[in-house]
Amino acid sequence: MREKLHIIPHNHKVARADRENLNKHRAFVIWFTGLSGSGKSTLAGALENKLYQHGYHTYILDGDNVRSGLNSDLDFSEASRKENIRRIAEVAGLMVDAGLIVLSAFISPHRSERQRVKETVGPENYVEVFVNCPLDECEKRDVKGLYQKARKGEISNFTGISSPFEEPDNPDVVVPTHQLSVEAGVDVIWKKIESKLK
Ligand code: ADX
Repeated sequence: MREKLHIIPHNHKVARADRENLNKHRAFVIWFTGLSGSGKSTLAGALENKLYQHGYHTYILDGDNVRSGLNSDLDFSEASRKENIRRIAEVAGLMVDAGLIVLSAFISPHRSERQRVKETVGPENYVEVFVNCPLDECEKRDVKGLYQKARKGEISNFTGISSPFEEPDNPDVVVPTHQLSVEAGVDVIWKKIESKLK
């Protein structure tokens, strides 16, 4: 495709390694996956806050926010969800190149798409966090009132109700948010990423 369109990427003088040196830390992606209402955004926010307090350069990519802008043309069909994650993977990759620690909170229900994210950003730059909260607990919380609407049939293709969620086979971290406090969840992730934070 690139050849057909005569696109020849340019290597700029300031590279990722230079930006990482300037920031005094490595760049990578922390990818939160889990059901709606499982606590992805809450955990990502709390972890970002701790990283920020320690002087790390970060950015959060969050489902509802990205879908309000960059991906506002996408719905919740299988094809749109794939395109949603494809674009986010590209953006996350750019942000890693920019020297940031990226925290991304998307349901990302397909194993194959998460695998593609890992390949896009590079496996060494990818930490997968499975925010593992059972469906009945997410439904009980129903923070946004969406499960009730999905049960009534007012929302179609709702993850966990009328659209599948494929649990990760081999996540780097599992955070059972129905059993752990937010702080305890952040600590579990922190321990996992500590070696990358040096
Ligand atoms: S993903 O499946 O494509 O990764 P994403 O994380 O971007 O989903 O967006 C999920 C958010 O969109 C949910 O937290 C919820 O607030 C909202 N939403 C609206 N409709 C749906 C739906 N049909 N299924 C899941 N989430 C939905």
